[in-house]
Amino acid sequence: MTTTAPRPATASGLTFPPAFRWGAATAAYQIEGAADEDGRTPSIWDTFSRRPGAVRNGDTGDVAADHYHRMREDVALMASLGLKDYRFSVSWPRVQPAGRGPASAKGLDFYRALVDELLAQGIRPMLTLYHWDLPQELEDAGGWPERDTAYRFADYAELVAGALGDRVPTWTTLNEPWCAAFLGYAEGVHAPGRTEPASALRAAHHLNLAHGLAVGALRELTGPASEISLTLNLAAIRPLSDSPADAEAARRIDALANRVFLDPVFHGRYPEDLRADTAQLTDWSFVRDGDLTTVSRPVDSLGINYYTPTVVGAGSHPLPSPWPAAQDHARFAPAPGPRTAMDWPVDADGLYELLVRLRDELPGTALLVTENGAAYDDYADPAGEVHDPERITYLTAHLGAVHRALAAGVDVRGYFLWSLLDNFEWAYGYSKRFGMVHVDYASQRRTPKDSALWYANVVARGGLPRG
Ligand code: FCB
Repeated sequence: MTTTAPRPATASGLTFPPAFRWGAATAAYQIEGAADEDGRTPSIWDTFSRRPGAVRNGDTGDVAADHYHRMREDVALMASLGLKDYRFSVSWPRVQPAGRGPASAKGLDFYRALVDELLAQGIRPMLTLYHWDLPQELEDAGGWPERDTAYRFADYAELVAGALGDRVPTWTTLNEPWCAAFLGYAEGVHAPGRTEPASALRAAHHLNLAHGLAVGALRELTGPASEISLTLNLAAIRPLSDSPADAEAARRIDALANRVFLDPVFHGRYPEDLRADTAQLTDWSFVRDGDLTTVSRPVDSLGINYYTPTVVGAGSHPLPSPWPAAQDHARFAPAPGPRTAMDWPVDADGLYELLVRLRDELPGTALLVTENGAAYDDYADPAGEVHDPERITYLTAHLGAVHRALAAGVDVRGYFLWSLLDNFEWAYGYSKRFGMVHVDYASQRRTPKDSALWYANVVARGGLPRG
């Protein structure tokens, strides 16, 4: 799976195409706060974060970065950094409390105001419909393992597209359905915190179905020029060795991490090997006639979130895990090299490998890097400055990988840094800082880190400065 290409001696001094989209990304539950204001109801993350031990320090998204109240200030901050694109998500329980029925006018007004503010500042909005905050009421009715949730999502997509379809150019149905299905329903480390491997497979299919149904609604209700997309956190898989046993383990994990989404969405089928590997858990009868036609409705681009590679070999791993039916077939090892504060190895080649794989497997599909970034233990020094040289090193290497991919003929059209702001990092709470802008949670003061100033310069020049 590893592809080699000529590497520039240094990843600095690289120019990107003029139309390349330079942005930053956030997600509703991670930044908004205002959890019970203006009619918003609880999502599965509001519930899960209250479960003892589920989130570090018992943190919740109740206040987060208070973006709901500071939206204009945050858009002004983006404008001051010269960002051209902004990827955010809509909170489902804020715009459709309880996950069904009428819209909340106040909820929609917030996103209307955000979009208008972005457009007024010349920043292109990219809207994600689902970044993991399922209305709790729908989880109580069965959640993603329940087929009806896909139809509820289609209704919600219709409602948001009806309100914003005339002004948002890029629409993403789902962010990282792998995490929603497998971390949420198999490993239980994300909301709703269930450890039911068979349910996770049902959830994955219903997320795929939800995506396809939403594509249909978005095509009808958004402008003819709108771009409809899906964001996946595909695994850049490296077998531990050249042995057939390690290759077999890598195949299994590739099916569960990547092809469970790529195959239905782009080829209208589930992989035969995935069905065989998981036969002891399910007969896949939850896939009904016609579903795969819906799931494979064409999209205009594919978003890729990348942080670190997945190194896998033959062996076993403990349960609960996010890998249904693979516990006796795969073990995981960290890639070598420096680590971020998440303990994730820094390995930009994985991003290059993933992009080249997609060039080969999905010819004609435009790609966007919709998330990439790193957490470090950032703090404001006595002068009020935040020095984060490791993040600049990380970003330089990964933008270098994107540039190499472009040179190798990959149709990659944009890069969204994760994240604009420090925020609620799911099960890690506020202990991990991914922002290029530091947030002091006590005062909610925003301070651009050195990396933000560096990135502003990258965006302004449309490429990496000479190192
Ligand atoms: C991704 C999520 C995003 C953020 C980063 C670090 O999996 O989409 O919300 O938490 O990881």
